[in-house]
Amino acid sequence: MHYVRNAWYVAGWEQDLPAATPTPISILDELIVIWRTADGTVTALEDRCVHRLAPLSLGRCEGDRLRCMYHGLLFDAEGQVVEIPGQDLIPRDARVRRYPVIVRHSWLWVWMGDPALADADLVPPAVGFDNPRYILGRGQLDYAAEARLINDNLLDFSHLSYVHTASFGASETWARSRPKISTLERGVRIERWIENEQGMHSPEPNDRWSTYDFLLPGVLLMTGGNYPVGTAARLGHAPPDLEDALSGVTFTSQAVTPTRPGQARYFFSWGPRTDMGDAALAEKLMGIAAKAFAEDKAIIEAQQRVIDRTPDPRIMPTTADKAVTLFSRLVDRLVRAESSPALPARQRAAH
Ligand code: FES
Ligand SMILES: [Fe+2]
Repeated sequence: MHYVRNAWYVAGWEQDLPAATPTPISILDELIVIWRTADGTVTALEDRCVHRLAPLSLGRCEGDRLRCMYHGLLFDAEGQVVEIPGQDLIPRDARVRRYPVIVRHSWLWVWMGDPALADADLVPPAVGFDNPRYILGRGQLDYAAEARLINDNLLDFSHLSYVHTASFGASETWARSRPKISTLERGVRIERWIENEQGMHSPEPNDRWSTYDFLLPGVLLMTGGNYPVGTAARLGHAPPDLEDALSGVTFTSQAVTPTRPGQARYFFSWGPRTDMGDAALAEKLMGIAAKAFAEDKAIIEAQQRVIDRTPDPRIMPTTADKAVTLFSRLVDRLVRAESSPALPARQRAAH
């Protein structure tokens, strides 16, 4: 699987992880068990007992330890075996891998690369349910498609004009105009004005500003708002102040996690800023999102099935693919650096 390892991957929603409930998740085709102790500490270990390879996610939490419920080996939060029932000697290498994990912005983030490089500052600044400025709804979808194809989709909104006419009611402008695209240290920024059009957030024509960052490993963070017609021209198509928006200020955080080859899990939240809507609007947006993301899933999974039956799949990029290309180059560069033994590990992460 061609993905960056030195990055925080979303493993799930904090709200979905009750205490003392070992939960399995695959990330980058690795088996991981996550659990939370009564005091709230979250631990992620390899989900494979060293004894006879039973999944630890079928195990039992005992304080901050986890017991394999096949023959009873007990693991501490570092992944070290601390008890073998009926046997005094515990081999020193009787341990499973421990993954760095952070709970932030309502998501459980797992670092898949070198633990020495796990840097909490690299967690993307998503908006979680703890943010008092937004009223959010949430959801998730399992895909029978490579995460890379979902990333490509999220990096190119020209598809809105064709895939999302029923849900978002997107006009042809999304496909016929080009956004401003700039590179970030760990991603791409995509900004655009859609001028003098009705939109999902407003029945009257307005100038709609939207901006999002798409960050490693596959996290979309998007906001925007509605302005009086003429605002985009008056500002020379520069970014507006979101505080000046008339209506329609929302925030969506979305994360794509490669689970297994050809499979991914897609997490999303969306909702209005508190001064721009209420819980009823958040619920309405979730209804639209459910429809829109089902539209994406249908076309992307169909695309994956064609790719799978194509002996030498090649693409023909268009100018709408600029952000897709920039992001995939960034991934290529980092994957190459991560696998280059010539560079010391710290330098590899900085690349
Ligand atoms: S497989 Fe885990 S204790 Fe035997
Ligand atoms: Fe889409």
